[in-house]
Amino acid sequence: MTSPHAAQIRILLSAALALFTFTVVIGILNGTDLVEFGHKALLTHVHVGTLGWITMSVIAASLWLFGLGDPAGKDAGLVRLLGYATPLTITAYVLAFLTTGSNVRPALGTLVGLVILVAFAWTVRSARGRVLSVPHVGMLAALLMSVLGAVLGILLGLRLAGNDSISETTGEAHPAAMVVGFLVPVGMALIEWALDGTSVARRATVAGIVQIVLPVLGGILVIIGLLADILPLVTLSLPFEVIGLIILIVRMRPAVMATSLMARTTARHGLMALVYLVVNLSILVFLIVKYFAKELDPPAHLLLALDHSIFIGVMTNGILALIMRFRRTVSAAVDHIVFVGLNAGLAVFVVGLLAESAPLKQVATPVMGGAILLAVATGIPALRGATQDPST
Ligand code: HEM
Ligand code: HEM
Repeated sequence: MTSPHAAQIRILLSAALALFTFTVVIGILNGTDLVEFGHKALLTHVHVGTLGWITMSVIAASLWLFGLGDPAGKDAGLVRLLGYATPLTITAYVLAFLTTGSNVRPALGTLVGLVILVAFAWTVRSARGRVLSVPHVGMLAALLMSVLGAVLGILLGLRLAGNDSISETTGEAHPAAMVVGFLVPVGMALIEWALDGTSVARRATVAGIVQIVLPVLGGILVIIGLLADILPLVTLSLPFEVIGLIILIVRMRPAVMATSLMARTTARHGLMALVYLVVNLSILVFLIVKYFAKELDPPAHLLLALDHSIFIGVMTNGILALIMRFRRTVSAAVDHIVFVGLNAGLAVFVVGLLAESAPLKQVATPVMGGAILLAVATGIPALRGATQDPST
């Protein structure tokens, strides 16, 4: 099964790599304590990462999965529109994060929200009559949660621009909707596909669907609990997240056993993404039990460890695997340096955050960031003009 949208997918993935440079450079300067950044620069670090790198690549992944096997030219106009509107609106919005807290920010945020809505609507329509694998189901669920998260983000932007009628609880509900609700199912989808490339052609089993539906329900409980300030609902989400993860691990066991960390495959990125999903959900359980359930504010360093374990450990491993599928091959040394630098650097970074150790952060951020910059520098040329068939 081939993908008719490969050209637009390559544009999106190249733009995502290019934008990610900003997040990484700020991250390295921040982590090595060379520069102290203000709120605006940090929020731009966050949203270039979450929108420019993650959401843009998720839209690319949806175009791939939900276009598989379609004839050339199908939905070409709409897909081309998404291919250009996504990088343009996201770039405009992150520039707003860097420069203003006014109503311009939610206005541009609304444009990004509309792009995500169009991508979701196209995905739902393209799902009809198609064999839906677990990665397909995960992607559908994730895009739905991303639409909800974007609405909360726009409301939060309006509140911060001075609209006091909007509840301050959007300040916690928006990041939670995105980090837990959106990223857990999308992470599961990317992990499954990266570990087992043939999975996208197999109809989802009941266990696979339950594995996605449970964390989505958990994410919805977290959002309602935070929005309405009903904290027991946040705690109630835990078994949903944990059981979903256990089902994923059991289902992926044969693929995990067949994966070598030494071979230059998408599978080893999938395996590390799975390991970091376990780390991420373990930190989430700890945070909820120790802090949220007792109505205490969690310490910032734990939130940072939670965030980066999913942003880098799960999503960046998953997206780099996706890029491997669409680019030309690069030298073996590059693939090994990126893989080891990213994952070992992140391990030290997360330990440094958990232990509140500045020296560990100072060592880890250039290693992890350098590995990502190498992936950017080699990935963009390798995507340009690549013609290999990204079939399953
Ligand atoms: C998808 C990518 C990324 C996302 C979404 C992300 C997100 C975040 C968030 C939410 C914060 C907290 C901001 C605040 O205090 O308001 C943060 C801080 C930080 N990030 Fe990232 N980040 C990403 C990638 C990176 C990378 C690649 C590096 C390093 C190379 C990095 C290093 C840091 C550092 C050092 C801090 C500050 C930590 C501290 O205050 O101790 N981040 N990031
Ligand atoms: C249309 C999409 C989005 C909109 C409109 C939006 C809007 C916002 C706004 C207005 C804030 C508060 C900014 C401030 O304090 O000045 C915020 C914070 C945040 N957003 Fe988003 N956002 C979007 C997408 C995302 C995505 C995709 C993610 C994660 C996957 C994300 C994660 C976060 C996080 C973690 C914070 C808190 C950062 C911190 O204070 O350290 N956002 N967002």
